[in-house]
Amino acid sequence: MLVVIIPDREKASSQAAKIVADQIRRKPDSVLGLPTGNTPLGMYSELIRMHREEGVDLSRVTTFNLDEYFGLKREHPQSFFRYTHENFLDHVNIKPENAHIPDGASKDFSKTCADYEAAIKNTGGIDLQILGIGRTGHIGFNEPTSSLASRTRLKTLSDETINDNSKISGDIPTVAITIGIGTILEARNILLLAFGEAKAEAVAKAIEGPISSSCSASALQMHPHVTFILDESAAAKLSHRGYYDRVVEQTLKLSPERLGHSND
Ligand code: GLP
Repeated sequence: MLVVIIPDREKASSQAAKIVADQIRRKPDSVLGLPTGNTPLGMYSELIRMHREEGVDLSRVTTFNLDEYFGLKREHPQSFFRYTHENFLDHVNIKPENAHIPDGASKDFSKTCADYEAAIKNTGGIDLQILGIGRTGHIGFNEPTSSLASRTRLKTLSDETINDNSKISGDIPTVAITIGIGTILEARNILLLAFGEAKAEAVAKAIEGPISSSCSASALQMHPHVTFILDESAAAKLSHRGYYDRVVEQTLKLSPERLGHSND
């Protein structure tokens, strides 16, 4: 596990974009797992800039969104379909047929979930899963007590998440389709971004707490290639800050590709 603490949120977002762009340069047909929320917005903007100004080519990239509100049509203003198109997909050259987002308006949700899992497998699996984290420690919409082996399914949202997300988007559905923790753990690499003091407790539990379904993100401790990118406030409750900084220094020397420096 690599814990990268970057005081400035803008620089942290650029660092995340650099890791994603480096993944795409090394493997142009990469499969990316995409999050929504406020946290990745800076990373998406920077990737769009890199596409426009530095020639980062996403024409062979495939994407799978983590989740979608259940019951919302694609065109609904609060759908993650709209969010992902407006903030990322409409501004880069990913082919529409390669951008996958669960269909929240599906009548046969069991089939939709099974088909989504199958589609991920058919592409050869996710190369880089990008994540945010909720205050409940959720990744995707895997709320506390989600099975750590869960697959894509419907999940009831917690009161805390409904409260947090409706502050941003107004009334939202209370159920969502989300890929599972088991699905996330099958990604080859994982990048989790967390900014702001509201995330500090969830981040500390995820990185230093026991592995428990009470904090879904703690399951990431079982994954061999996870990078956390945090700002100071999100890192505030970590106990081993000095150690994490030393690990980052060593990684820059020994495995610079983990930090998006493979072409430097
Ligand atoms: C939502 C999404 C998560 C996201 C989380 C945090 O519930 N399903 O994927 O990580 O919220 O959102 P924000 O980045 O806005 O804090």
